Amino acid sequence: MKKKLLFVCLGNICRSPAAEAICSYKLKKYQLNNYCEVDSAGTGAWHVGKKSDSRMRSAALSRGIIIESRARQITLDDFNAFDLILTMDNSNFADVESLSRELKMPFKAKIQPLLQYSNNTDSLEVPDPYYGGEKGFEDVLDLLDDAIEQLLVELRKF
Ligand code: 4NP
Repeated sequence: MKKKLLFVCLGNICRSPAAEAICSYKLKKYQLNNYCEVDSAGTGAWHVGKKSDSRMRSAALSRGIIIESRARQITLDDFNAFDLILTMDNSNFADVESLSRELKMPFKAKIQPLLQYSNNTDSLEVPDPYYGGEKGFEDVLDLLDDAIEQLLVELRKF
């Protein structure tokens, strides 16, 4: 059975689509496509249907990573459609947990901060780059790259 991963941020136009694209890139690179499937979503609905932020798309592209997804909002169905829901910051984590309580029954997905997998930072928060400068996008990509590399190491153990 394929492992299904859902990356979640606030708007689904910066951090989580970048995480999805980096993870897809690495799955292809390590020939793990048959092992894992990825998607992303936002806790908010403001940007639903939009392409990801052009600043994030161009920062990723300069690393050879193409972000193709369109924004969508997380739904209650996602809690049983995915094995892992990986959040970007504490506020996303709290919002996802709070939404999960609307199900009022056990569900399949485990909710975890993505940076829990990182070896290079003690922080559990990928900072929101939306209102900052270019460096913020590069920093996000560095954090995501490291955490996702480690995430795939962990997933390969099962
Ligand atoms: P994301 O970044 O959660 O990484 O997609 C944001 C994008 C848009 C907004 C906030 C965060 N916004 O307020 O519109």
